[in-house]
Amino acid sequence: MAPLFRLLLPALLPLFPTLTTAWTDLSDETLARLPNPSDTDFDITSGALLSPILIPRVPGTEGSLKVLSHFQNFFATKLPDWKTSTQNSTATTPTSNGAEIPFVNFYATRDPPWAGGGDVGRLVLVAHYDSKSTPEGFIGATDSAVPCAVLMHAAQAVDEALTRKWEDMRAKGLAGDGLGDGDGHEDAYRGVMILFLDGEEAFHSWTNEDSLYGARSLAKTWESTPHTVLSQRKNHISSIDLFLLLDLLGSKSPTIPSYFPTTHWAYTHMATLESRLRRQNHFLSHETSPNPWFFEPKKGKRFNSMMIQDDHIPFLARGVEVLHVIPSPFPRVWHVLEDDGKHLDMPTVKDWARLTAAFLAGWLGLEGFVEAPLEVIPVGGRAGEAEDVTSGAVKGRGVRLKTEL
Ligand SMILES: *[C@@H]1O[C@H](CO)[C@@H](O)[C@H](O)[C@H]1NC(C)=O
Repeated sequence: MAPLFRLLLPALLPLFPTLTTAWTDLSDETLARLPNPSDTDFDITSGALLSPILIPRVPGTEGSLKVLSHFQNFFATKLPDWKTSTQNSTATTPTSNGAEIPFVNFYATRDPPWAGGGDVGRLVLVAHYDSKSTPEGFIGATDSAVPCAVLMHAAQAVDEALTRKWEDMRAKGLAGDGLGDGDGHEDAYRGVMILFLDGEEAFHSWTNEDSLYGARSLAKTWESTPHTVLSQRKNHISSIDLFLLLDLLGSKSPTIPSYFPTTHWAYTHMATLESRLRRQNHFLSHETSPNPWFFEPKKGKRFNSMMIQDDHIPFLARGVEVLHVIPSPFPRVWHVLEDDGKHLDMPTVKDWARLTAAFLAGWLGLEGFVEAPLEVIPVGGRAGEAEDVTSGAVKGRGVRLKTEL
């Protein structure tokens, strides 16, 4: 990421209609039932989701391919109902001496089983998985290994509930009527995509040409590949209802401004979920990160007029709605060697995972479909006593449900 440039967003404000789509509030019980982000997934040396990403992963190198196969394995083994794809391109860079460097974008999609791909509107959850080529050995834990792991967690957290919801809709005859937008059946055509972009970082210094290699190629490809005739949506770009980009997350006490008036409604849902999760003691970061990350902007100063150059730019330019979840100011470790696993604030990392999963559940309308989790007994204590109950041993399903504590 990226130099900043100023945009006169407030001046444009009245031109945008307010867009409020795709949201159902979640009950306290559902918030409580969403799976705890565990050390099993987030430990920096052994966590199944995070630790494989904490290696240098410069485009075109072995590290990059390793992380790519980590994503592929995860979806193939843990989330087989998700359809995965890659989109590839090559480009020369200011440091490649004329050689073409390969860029591989990875995405995994889950759509209602009855819906044709061109009829679905998706929440697209995005992070970049490449790491910066300098300084030598740079890991980019916040930039953006943690956002990638957070998105994997979110996908995993909602997967079963989504299956139940779609089975329920089918049983009630609410599915597959061939009707899409604007007729009250949007819910039957709502899907989700996890998108990991390559080549976000500049190789030499940030310019329009030396940055966003993967995002630029993908936005162009998606725009120029139409869906089949009679689809509700024109192409993959118009299939994106919201492009939710996470970046630079995992340091303590971030503050996330609202950058775009047209997606302030989604920002507000984030803020509300955050404060509810805090109030109900589902957040672990109270001590390291006590202030709200999302906040109600003061009247007359609603939007941050700074726009940060990031992977959303090529999509924004094509009319895509964007919610950019990136702190301002950037974390202290930004683009220096200290942006590694050891310098992460782990309670904050896990809270991002929980918050993102909750947002996804709200978007997908999963109220009533999230089942109580497995009972977990912390090592050396009763369930519910330890700060992080997820580090304990898992007992069998139904031994004692969380909601009974
Ligand atoms: C893109 O490149 C990756 C890595 O080399 C490869 O595994 C994948 O099959 C390629 N995808 C396509 C669509 O060609």
